[in-house]
Amino acid sequence: MSSVDLRVEIAGLELANPVMTASGTFASGREFADFVDLSRLGAIVTKGVSLVPWEGNPSPRMAETASGMLNSIGLQNPGVEAFRERDLAWLAGSVPGLPVIVNVSGHDLAGYVGVIEALEDEPGVSGYELNISCPNVDAGGMAFGTDCAAAAEVTAACRAVTARPLIVKLSPNVTDIVSVARSVEAAGADAVSLINTLLGMAIDTSSFRPKLARVVGGLSGPAIKPVAVRMVWQVASAVEIPVIGMGGIMTADDAIEFMLAGATAVAVGTANFVDPTSTVRIVDGLAEFCHAHGVGCVSDLVGAVDVS
Ligand SMILES: Cc1cc2nc3c(=O)[nH]c(=O)nc-3n(C[C@H](O)[C@H](O)[C@H](O)COP(=O)(O)O)c2cc1C
Repeated sequence: MSSVDLRVEIAGLELANPVMTASGTFASGREFADFVDLSRLGAIVTKGVSLVPWEGNPSPRMAETASGMLNSIGLQNPGVEAFRERDLAWLAGSVPGLPVIVNVSGHDLAGYVGVIEALEDEPGVSGYELNISCPNVDAGGMAFGTDCAAAAEVTAACRAVTARPLIVKLSPNVTDIVSVARSVEAAGADAVSLINTLLGMAIDTSSFRPKLARVVGGLSGPAIKPVAVRMVWQVASAVEIPVIGMGGIMTADDAIEFMLAGATAVAVGTANFVDPTSTVRIVDGLAEFCHAHGVGCVSDLVGAVDVS
């Protein structure tokens, strides 16, 4: 399998393979290090980091659904200073060389910019992913990702304070995701990632109560995969910058679907809760697929779907 070239490039960042972790499903790696050789990942995308600590939403904030799950975590995190001291320091010391992409959250423009400014001197950061698509916070989050002008504004503000790779994570909770992708591309994004979770709701019929304390939450897992593949295909056909695809990837075959649709790299999320070794299993599966199909470079799969 050594003959297969799994390398891909995103915004000048060379990844050993296209498999990343999806933000919020892998913490900052440390919690998974007993199960997964982190050095085998293409990149780690951290949980969302905000300027000050966020408490998150009340429980229950997870509910299993058919072929997926709902969550309303609300971007709970200890804030950028604690992240820098604890998580970044651990990653730099334990997995040197692993590309680290910090997922950035904010309630307002200054919040996003502040996180990036706080991390600009950190050599262990390879790039940023702006989460403008979280459906689980009242202010900020998805509000930026569902409006082209707001999405462009936050992208441009962050672009102004960093030369590092800037990925903007798009919301599927829109009518026209292509317009939002084009807006952030024009505002300076180096790549887009999609999709974040789809807004959903589940009700406990014995209590007549919603299953989540916040009533609605974000749907993830295999249930959303066809929606995600469709959006990746639409966006990849419309922008010049690379696309990172995610949404329900459980197997290497799922990852290949996203690459054929136009994703240069993929991220694995909910699958980590089912099998913590999903990411490396998918890396191995990609190499096996390429080997079996005579594909020398995994990047040859990008956008290779035949829709004629
Ligand atoms: C429990 C949970 C927490 C998440 N937290 C974040 C987050 O902090 N930032 C973010 O951009 N996306 C977050 N997401 C969205 C995922 O990164 C991903 O976009 C989505 O779940 C679709 O991929 P999947 O079906 O493979 O999980 C979270 C998803 C889950 C399930």
